[in-house]
Amino acid sequence: VRNILKPVAPLMIEHRLIERMVGLLKKELNSIESKKRADVNFIFSAVDFFRSYADRTHHGKEEDILFKELKKKKLSKEHKKILDELIKEHTIARSNVKGLFEAAKEYASGNSKSADKIKSFITALINLYPAHISKEDTRFFIPILDYFTADEQSNMLERFFEFDRLAIHEKYKRVVEQYE
Ligand SMILES: [Fe+2]
Ligand SMILES: [Fe+2]
Repeated sequence: VRNILKPVAPLMIEHRLIERMVGLLKKELNSIESKKRADVNFIFSAVDFFRSYADRTHHGKEEDILFKELKKKKLSKEHKKILDELIKEHTIARSNVKGLFEAAKEYASGNSKSADKIKSFITALINLYPAHISKEDTRFFIPILDYFTADEQSNMLERFFEFDRLAIHEKYKRVVEQYE
């Protein structure tokens, strides 16, 4: 029985959760402004979300599977350009998350001046993600499906599921290794 779910469907569903986290970042930014205090527990949870979910699991499926398969195809100029932008934006997202993590650690160790750094990295993520997601959802994911046969699409969807299945094991193996 042919799988009728498009391989980009799980990616688009994941975008909705990332958008909700961006909404929480906006609330945190307002709260830092009004209370003059950052919620480091929330920020560390947000960092873990961006690293494990948005980057490893979500960007991971995009870069290691979808984009890799796309690179084997003869892409139009426009699609090649968007693909390069998307990859670059993932790199920028990673470096902003790292910056946010470092700033939150400084803040947690008593350096209240790091609140400004926290605000600027949160602002960068708030600006980056919705635009990135909208580019993928509205200008990329649907048109690029035409480069793939139905078989290639259902094969890709299977690989996405397998990638997700392994992700949680990989994550918690790393947690144990980190403390061993
Ligand atoms: Fe992406
Ligand atoms: Fe995405």
